[in-house]
Formats: sequence, structure tokens, C-alpha cells
Amino acid sequence: MADSATLRPASPEDYKAIVAVLDDWWGRPVASSLPRLFLDHFWSTSRVAEDERGLAGFLVAFFSPSQPRVAYVHFIGVRPDQRRSGLARRLYEEFADRARQQGCTEMRAITAPGNTGSIRFHENLGFTASELTVDYNGPGRSMITFRRLLEQAAAAP
Ligand SMILES: CC(C)(COP(=O)(O)OP(=O)(O)OC[C@H]1O[C@@H](n2cnc3c(N)ncnc32)[C@H](O)[C@@H]1OP(=O)(O)O)[C@@H](O)C(=O)NCCC(=O)NCCS
Repeated sequence: MADSATLRPASPEDYKAIVAVLDDWWGRPVASSLPRLFLDHFWSTSRVAEDERGLAGFLVAFFSPSQPRVAYVHFIGVRPDQRRSGLARRLYEEFADRARQQGCTEMRAITAPGNTGSIRFHENLGFTASELTVDYNGPGRSMITFRRLLEQAAAAP
């Protein structure tokens, strides 16, 4: 159950545990896309979910320093035995709440075109997926981009 996992802010020390599971959780080599700098410099906006078996999920994300209204999720992963229980949604919505408090008006993310699970997951969370964005990350590295507007809470009367 997603509720049985505890969420906490990430720390730079979490990098070792996260990088150790990346290729297994994604089912292909992706570790080079999450270098250590993300945990060293964006730990405070990232989150780790833990349960009795240890690392249950994580979200690596930040509020864009260059586009202050944009909150960006770089990586989200959930341990295979914990999938489809709402844990990733919980991680995303907790980040969305913090993004709103920061004044962000939209969230963005990207995924590889073959990652159909990620595309369906993001669409379920209210993201709009782009068409294939050719050479997004350089020659031969096309991506799907996601965008979701963040509605602001109504002001108190
Ligand atoms: C994508 C991933 C993070 C989803 O985690 P999860 O905890 O299983 O997702 P949730 O249980 O919170 O699901 C949220 C919604 O997305 C849907 N969803 C989740 N995975 C899905 C999939 N593979 N295909 C279709 N829909 C999916 C769920 O049904 C749910 O919708 P609902 O609430 O309307 O029923 C997880 O499958 C994963 O870690 N995959 C490998 C890593 C990856 O590809 N990450 C994304 C790119 S960075």
C-alpha cells in the first residue's frame, strides 16, 4: 500500500541506494541520466519513500532557477513490488503542492518514447504529452515531453 511508505526529503547520501536500483527498476541502462549532481544539489526538493524493505520509491525534482514558474521532475521510480498502489501519484502530488507554494504554475517532465508505462502514468496524472520531439537531447535522442498546469488554491475570502 502506498500509505505504508514514509516520505522524507532526500539527502546526498541517498544517491548510492538510488543509483544501485536504477537499471533494475527501469529495466534498461539509465543510470548515466541521473548523475550524482542531482542528489548533491537538488536533494532538498527531492523525496525518498521508505518502507520496511528500505527504498520503496523516489522523486528527483527541482524548482527551475531559470524559469521560476516551472517545477521539473527529472526522475521518478517505484520499486516493482510497490507499483500500482498510488505511491508515485503521492510523490508527484506532494511535489505539486510544494511547487504551488513556491509560486510555480506548471510542472514539466520528459520520458523516452519507448517508455509507454511512463507516458500512460503521466497522462493519468493530468499531464499533456507532446508528440515525439525529435533530437530533443541531441542527435538521435528524441523524447516525449510532458506539461501540466498547476492550478493555484483559491484565496480565502
Ligand atoms: C511509472 C511509475 C513511476 C509509476 O509508479 P506507480 O507507483 O505504479 O504509479 P501509481 O500507482 O501512483 O499510478 C498512478 C496512476 O497511473 C497509472 N499507471 C501507473 N503505471 C502505469 C502503467 N505502466 N501503465 C498505465 N497506467 C499506469 C495508474 O493506474 C494510476 O492511475 P489511476 O489512479 O487512475 O488508477 C513506475 O511504474 C516506475 O517506477 N517505472 C519505472 C521507472 C520509470 O519509467 N519512471 C518514469 C520516467 S522518469
